[in-house]
Amino acid sequence: MNILVIGNGGREHALVWKIGQSPLIRKIYCAPGNAGTSDIAENVDIELTDITGFADFAIKNSIDLAVVGPELPLTSGIVDEFEKRGLRIFGPRKEAAEIEGSKVFAKYMMQKYGIPTAKYESFDSPKEARNYIRKTALPLVIKADGLAAGKGVIICNTARETIEAINAIMVEKRFGSAGKKIVIEEFLKGEEVSYMAFCDGENVLPLTSAQDHKQIYDGDRGPNTGGMGAYSPAPIITQKLDREIIDTIMKPLIAGMKNEGRHYKGILYGGLMIVGGKPFVLEFNCRFGDPETQPVLARMKSDIVPVMIAVVDGKLNEMEIQWYDEASVCVVMAMRGYPDTYEKGIEIKGLEDIKKLENLMVFHAGTIKNDDKISTNGGRVLGVTSLGKDIKDAIDKAYKGVNLISWKGVYYRRDIGKKAIRS
Ligand SMILES: Nc1ncnc2c1ncn2[C@@H]1O[C@H](COP(=O)(O)OP(=O)(O)O)[C@@H](O)[C@H]1O
Ligand SMILES: [Mg+2]
Repeated sequence: MNILVIGNGGREHALVWKIGQSPLIRKIYCAPGNAGTSDIAENVDIELTDITGFADFAIKNSIDLAVVGPELPLTSGIVDEFEKRGLRIFGPRKEAAEIEGSKVFAKYMMQKYGIPTAKYESFDSPKEARNYIRKTALPLVIKADGLAAGKGVIICNTARETIEAINAIMVEKRFGSAGKKIVIEEFLKGEEVSYMAFCDGENVLPLTSAQDHKQIYDGDRGPNTGGMGAYSPAPIITQKLDREIIDTIMKPLIAGMKNEGRHYKGILYGGLMIVGGKPFVLEFNCRFGDPETQPVLARMKSDIVPVMIAVVDGKLNEMEIQWYDEASVCVVMAMRGYPDTYEKGIEIKGLEDIKKLENLMVFHAGTIKNDDKISTNGGRVLGVTSLGKDIKDAIDKAYKGVNLISWKGVYYRRDIGKKAIRS
């Protein structure tokens, strides 16, 4: 088979790495890709917004399956375009991807189908939003409806902060049209986990559990980022909780989407808050999480390609996935300044030395290759991902790798995975 992976982050490098191990594969392309994907796949220069460009490429190069990493092409309708042209693609159609593309729609679905989530109201008028807040207890969480690159959620502890948040999103339009509507919801205090499952429109086949570290600083402090590291499995997900997440969240959502005529195929990602042992949904994403996908795929024993084909063909009920018992930890190495502004184009050292270490994968995100030099090209640069006999061993292995890599201005957290072994 010829495969096209779409995207350029650590998630896509991990996908290319995992797909590349399948005996079913003849050739892999990655578009646009990064310096890491170019070791395994042929990088193709197509911009993420160029949906017809991807479809044209797929036809010309006899692509048997396209796999979409990021949300933007999905919410823009890349799957619809591929299907229209008779091409096979892994991911939800535009109408199904709205589960991530619109938080108002996601909350509506959860309410309609009885899926546990924070109490909420949605608004398209700032005046009504301000009125509502006057009679509602704090803290509150205010969310822009549409995609805002992880910056559209504001946690408000005071009345003043709520007014500022409403103004920033709806009046000043900080996130453009993504802020035409907002969700205001109750603040949930608990522990966050990421829960991912393959879905074929009907059936749900979970991946193994993972947890990420969203904040920039050690001790989970500071502003949120795309994710500074992750580990798998997540000890908080007991067998009982796993069952409950499948039965009260994943399956009802998939059945609800089917009922709405929006059959959901691809990865369904639940961003969950575990409150007093019960799972609540903060949001759904319509794709693999990044960085969680890196440790999760590191632990996947089964070939991923037949599972993806089963998703596309609606045959997931015939599938099973085997996982390695080992734990995995991914430490994200970033550029100082991230998640705000940062420099690019700094040469990375040590990438050759690290190839000698066993059970260690270096997944690239913001990297670029010029001649034989690899340089930084983004905020999150590398995901150093290990396999170890338990979380502690995996942490040691990952940081051993991190210590071999350096560049001017490198920043990473030193406590990734620690919260998994606190007890
Ligand atoms: N109801 C809530 N209670 C507490 N924290 C929340 C709530 N909703 C969101 N958050 C926090 O804000 C982060 C971002 O919110 P989320 O809904 O996942 O949106 P996005 O990922 O699109 O920015 C979450 O990871 C969580 O830390
Ligand atoms: Mg989120």
